[in-house]
Amino acid sequence: HDVLLLNGPNLNMLGVREPEVYGADTLQDIVAKVTAHAGDRAVISHVQSNHEGELVEALHAAHGTRAGVVFNPGAYTHTSVALRDAISACGLPVVETHLSNVHAREEFRHRSLLAGVCLGVVAGFGWRSYTVALDGLLAHLDAVAS
Ligand code: DQA
Repeated sequence: HDVLLLNGPNLNMLGVREPEVYGADTLQDIVAKVTAHAGDRAVISHVQSNHEGELVEALHAAHGTRAGVVFNPGAYTHTSVALRDAISACGLPVVETHLSNVHAREEFRHRSLLAGVCLGVVAGFGWRSYTVALDGLLAHLDAVAS
């Protein structure tokens, strides 16, 4: 399976940014861990952008070229109708993924505009949220293929 790993705003700052909340790993470390975890089950391509429109375009480009998306939309989770519509438009299974347990944090992080159009949501496991999300996505892709 070809899987897009998509990361939104401020995630390029991982390792530096609030390590007590988000962990010590850099985004590169996480991409390496996800790629290793995928093994021969999936080919991982990675895009990170701090710009909402670039994330929209990455989802458009995934249509027809990728089987699914593991997506940490960062703060856009809580604000972006454009990303919600792009997830719907790309027609792919997307797993909304968060390092932190957003439900244990500020009230404004409790609402996701995206979750309702995603295959599922994983939050609170640090970098392992990404591998859990990938496993769920691959299980889904295998189930629909058979
Ligand atoms: C985050 C949670 C968001 O609320 C926050 O804005 C982020 C990171 C997470 O991975 O825990 O940037 O998506």
